[in-house]
Order: sequence, then structure tokens, then C-alpha cells
Amino acid sequence: MALRSASIRWITVTAVTAAAAVAVATLATACTVERYEPRFPADTSRAANEADAATLPTPNLVRRVAFRVPLESEVADTVMLRSVRRGRALLRNTRDSLRSYVGNRLQCVSCHALDGTQQNAMPWVGVYARFPQYRARSGYVQIIEDRINDCFKRSMNGRALIPESREMRDIINYFAFLSLGYPQGAEVVGQGIPPVAPLPGNEARGRAIYASKCAVCHGVNGQGTQTAPPVWGPQSYNVGAGMTRVRTAAAFIKELMPQNAPRTLSAQEAYDVATFINKKPRPDFKTKERDWPRGDPPPDVAYQTNAARAKARGR
Ligand code: HEC
Ligand code: HEC
Repeated sequence: MALRSASIRWITVTAVTAAAAVAVATLATACTVERYEPRFPADTSRAANEADAATLPTPNLVRRVAFRVPLESEVADTVMLRSVRRGRALLRNTRDSLRSYVGNRLQCVSCHALDGTQQNAMPWVGVYARFPQYRARSGYVQIIEDRINDCFKRSMNGRALIPESREMRDIINYFAFLSLGYPQGAEVVGQGIPPVAPLPGNEARGRAIYASKCAVCHGVNGQGTQTAPPVWGPQSYNVGAGMTRVRTAAAFIKELMPQNAPRTLSAQEAYDVATFINKKPRPDFKTKERDWPRGDPPPDVAYQTNAARAKARGR
């Protein structure tokens, strides 16, 4: 709208001058209105556009599609396949491959099970088609690089990867591979984790559950063992990570843990043990107060945000 009126005004001003200026104005009109402003198609082509549109599926329609993990044999190009495999290797061995970007003892696949191909376990299947996406936590439209770097900075307690780096390209290429055939904006059956209705968690009960069902793999002090990564302490995910929210942790634990007997905990047990774990010390996340800049944090965020504080004060 603004673009259009600006160029029209400009035509009026230049109309009195030489033909050369008119030619420039025509060019400007062509560029701003016809090429970049799809809401104002040129009158001559409107009928044609509408005829075309009638043959296309309705845009912006979020479709729910079945979960299917693409096969490597669907990648015909060998250069692409090598990059996909490098991306997967980085997600499996994040700490050893990207030492200066990881600040704890986790790998990306410590939470995104089976290389991100497990349904209901925050799979990366179809994820490339879910971005760009508005995220309330950041308050802006994120591209997939932003989302990946959120997990580097928070879940991995590390640093953002350089967006143009080969590593970022390989990781994204692996995600694009896992999204082969998924329409843009599609909701994939089994994306995310099934939510568990909120219950008040009890720390003392959680401690007992941890000792009997988790400590064998994650260690009595939560610091991890040869078998499993830490769940609290300096080598764990930080305060700003999604897993620090008790609802996310409870849903993850209920669906995936104990790893040798998943889906055996009750909802109450999942909330109890999640509450216990999330009350334990873990690394801080420096800029956490700037999260949810529009003042809409979910109720289980473990810290105060600037925007929520301002809102409470009545702006
Ligand atoms: C401590 C657990 C944890 C680790 C480790 C972790 N993530 Fe995540 N990740 C999450 C959670 C929680 C979410 C949010 C899931 C949701 O909203 O359903 C998430 C979401 C994502 C998403 C968006 C998924 C979607 O469907 O929109 C991407 C992409 C992602 N993570 C990439 C990574 C990468 C890359 C790494 C390693 C650098 C990593 N994650 C490590 C917990 C983790
Ligand atoms: C048999 C071993 C085992 C048991 C028992 C077990 N886990 Fe895990 N857990 C793992 C492994 C292994 C991973 C990492 C995922 C992977 O590498 O496949 C993991 C990952 C996790 C994670 C995300 C990554 C991290 O370290 O932060 C959390 C949280 C977690 N487990 C919590 C629990 C809780 C709570 C229990 C008890 C109810 C539990 N686990 C029981 C093996 C186990």
C-alpha cells in the first residue's frame, strides 16, 4: 500500500519534466507494484491471475500429514547425500565435533531421539517445512537457523553457530532431507511431544522416583554416567532451555523415560520427577529476562521476564 501510493505521487511530480524521467517512473511503478506487490496485480493480468489461482490448492492452509521418515535412497545427488550425513553426524556427536559451540555434556540427539526420527519425541521430520515461524519466546519470526541456534545457546548451554558455516548448512540439509515431501506449513502427526495436563509436582516424591528409576543411568547426583547424560548441574541444559519448563520436562519424561521402560510413569510421577530435577541447580542463561518480549510467557517459565514484570506494574 505505502509502496504504491509513494510511486504514484512520484509519477505526478515528474509528469511535468522530460520523457526520460517518465520512463524511470514507469520502471519504478513496474518494479514496486507489479513485481513486488502481489496484492495489487496489474489490471490487465488480474483475470489471468484469478484463473490460475482457481487451479491451485488454497494457500496458507495448514494440512495435517502422516509421519514418514524419508529414505537416503530418495537423495539422488551424492554431494547432497554426503552433506546430509555430515549434518546427522554433527547432531549425534555435537560436543566432540563442535567443541567451542557446546558448553555441556549433551548431544542434540540426547533429547531429539533416534537422530530426530522418533514420533512424539520432538522429531525433526518435517521441521524444514515448519519454518519461518513466529515464536513468542523471541518475539519475532524465526528462520530455521535461529531455532537451531536457540538449542545451541540454551539446551547445549553453548554459543550460536555461524549461520553461513558449512556445519549449519549440513545440519539444515539434514533437516531438509527429513522434510522431503512435506508441504510448507504442514503439521506432521507426532511432531513435538504429547502434552501432559498440568499437575502440581511434589519435590519429595520426585526425589524418591529419581532414586529408584533414573539414578541408575543419570547418576545419583544427576551428573550423568557412561550410559546417559547429566540432568542437572554444570554439564546440563541451562535455565533458558525449553526442558527447564516443568511441562516440557514432564511431557518428555513421560513419553521417553526411563529409557528402558518408556511410558510407564503416571502423569503425576512425571510431574513429580520433573519438578525435582528442575529445582536443581544448572547453568544460568544470561539474557533470559529478555524472553517473551511481548509479555506472554507460559505459566511454567522458571524465571521473571522484563516484559512480564512491566506488564504486572501496569506498563
Ligand atoms: C535438553 C534437550 C534438548 C537438546 C539437547 C536439544 N534440544 Fe532442540 N528442542 C528441545 C525442546 C524442548 C524443543 C521444543 C519442542 C517443542 O516445542 O515441541 C526443541 C526444539 C528444536 C527444534 C524445533 C523443532 C520443531 O518441531 O519446531 C529444532 C530445529 C531443534 N530443537 C534443534 C536442536 C539442535 C540442532 C540441537 C543441538 C544443537 C538441539 N535441538 C538440542 C530440546 C532439546
Ligand atoms: C536405562 C537408562 C536410563 C534410565 C533408567 C533413564 N534414562 Fe533418561 N536418558 C537416558 C539416555 C541414554 C538419554 C539420552 C538419549 C539418548 O542418547 O538416546 C536420556 C535422556 C534424558 C533426558 C534428556 C537429556 C538430558 O540428559 O537432559 C532427561 C531429562 C532424562 N533422560 C530424564 C530421565 C528421568 C527423569 C528418568 C527417570 C524417570 C530417566 N531419565 C531414566 C537413559 C536413561
